[in-house]
Amino acid sequence: MLENLTAQPADKILALVAQYRADPRANKIDLGVGVYKDATGNTPVMRAVKEAERRILSDQTTKAYTGLAGDPEFGAVMRDLVLGDSVPAERVAAVATPGGTGAIRQSLELIRLAAPRATVWLSNPTWPNHPSIIKYLGMNMAEYRYFDNETRGVDFAGMLADLEKVAAGDVVLLHGCCHNPTGANLTYEQVQQVIGVMHKKAAVPLVDIAYQGFGDGLDKDAQITRQIASSFENCLIAASCSKNFGIYRERTGILMAVAKDADQQALAQQNLAFLNRQNYSFPPDHGARVVTTILKDPALRADWEAELEETRKGMLDLRQQLADELRRLTNSDRFDFLSAHRGMFSRLGTTPDKVDALRDDHGIYLVGDSRMNIAGLNAETVPVLAKAIVNAGI
Ligand code: LMR
Repeated sequence: MLENLTAQPADKILALVAQYRADPRANKIDLGVGVYKDATGNTPVMRAVKEAERRILSDQTTKAYTGLAGDPEFGAVMRDLVLGDSVPAERVAAVATPGGTGAIRQSLELIRLAAPRATVWLSNPTWPNHPSIIKYLGMNMAEYRYFDNETRGVDFAGMLADLEKVAAGDVVLLHGCCHNPTGANLTYEQVQQVIGVMHKKAAVPLVDIAYQGFGDGLDKDAQITRQIASSFENCLIAASCSKNFGIYRERTGILMAVAKDADQQALAQQNLAFLNRQNYSFPPDHGARVVTTILKDPALRADWEAELEETRKGMLDLRQQLADELRRLTNSDRFDFLSAHRGMFSRLGTTPDKVDALRDDHGIYLVGDSRMNIAGLNAETVPVLAKAIVNAGI
C-alpha cells in the first residue's frame, strides 16, 4: 500500500527551519518561521504562563475529558478577548482547536459542510498553509490582490477591484491584524470599504487572527475582527494563542462562528462539535487551561499584558532600528515601509535570487518570498542584516 504514496510538497516555512538547523555557520541568522525571540535568541515561556502552569500542576484534580468543544470557559474568555462586546455572546458558537491551524482547518471543513461550492478568496500573498489546506480539502479557491511590491503597502485599488468578482455566498479570508507574510495592513477606513463591497456581494468573512497584541495593542489589533463580527449576519473567526501567549507547541486556538440568532448558533455549535469529533475528538486542553487561568485572574492577566506589550514594543523598536540603519546606508527612504508595517513579519519585496544570496553569502534566512521575521532580530543583528541587504543589491 505505502508504495502508492507520492511525495507531498514541502511546506516552505518548515523546510527553511530544517535548512537553517543544518547550516554549520556560527553567525547564521534565522528570520524564517514566525517565532518570537528575545535579545538573546531565546523563545521564552512568558511569566504568567509559568505561573498558570504551576497553579494547574498543583490544583488540577483530573485529566478526564473536557467536552468536544473544549472547556466552555476557554470559549468565553477567548470570545471576550477577540470579540469584546462587538456581538452578543448567544450568537457565537466556539470550539477549541489544536492551534490556529486547527481553527483554520475546522473553519474550512465547516464551510465545506454548509457551502461546498463556495469559493474561498485569499489575499495574494497569504500564509502558505491557507491555500495548501484548501487544496487538500478539494475546495474552490481564488485570490484577491493585496500587496503592492513598489510601495510595500496594500494594493487597495487592486483588492477592491478583485473583491468585486466575488460571487454571492463566497468566503473572503481576511487577516485580522499583522498580515502574514507582508506586514502591510488595512486602515480602519479601508476595512469599512471592504465590508461595504462584501455586503454588496453577499460574501461571508473568515478572519484569521493569529497575532493579536503584536501590532498596535490587544484592542486595536482586534478592531477589524470586531468590526466584521458586528457587521455581518454570519462570519467565522479563527484565532491562535500560539504567539501572544508564546505557547506554540501547546497547540491552542479557537474557531468562532458568529450566527444570526441563538437557534442558528446552537446548530453551528453542534456542527463544530461534530467536526472536532471526526477529526480528533477532544481538543488539547493544557494550553487552553493556561490561557483561561491567565485571562480570569486580574493579576496574572495584567502581568501577561505587560509582557506582551514589552514584546510588541521590542518588535517596533527593531523595525525602527532597521529602517534607520537602512536609511543611513542607502541615503534614501526606500526602506521606511519597515517601520510602517506591523506584526512579526515584513515582506522586503525582493526576488528569490536575492533571498538566496542573503542566505548563501551572509547566512541570513528569509522565506523565499522575502518575508522576514522581525522578532528574529536583535540590536546586534540589525546592522548585520542592513549591510547584507545593501550588499545583496536589494
Ligand atoms: C509562520 O507563518 O511562520 C507561523 O505561522 C508558523 C507556521 O506554522 O507556519
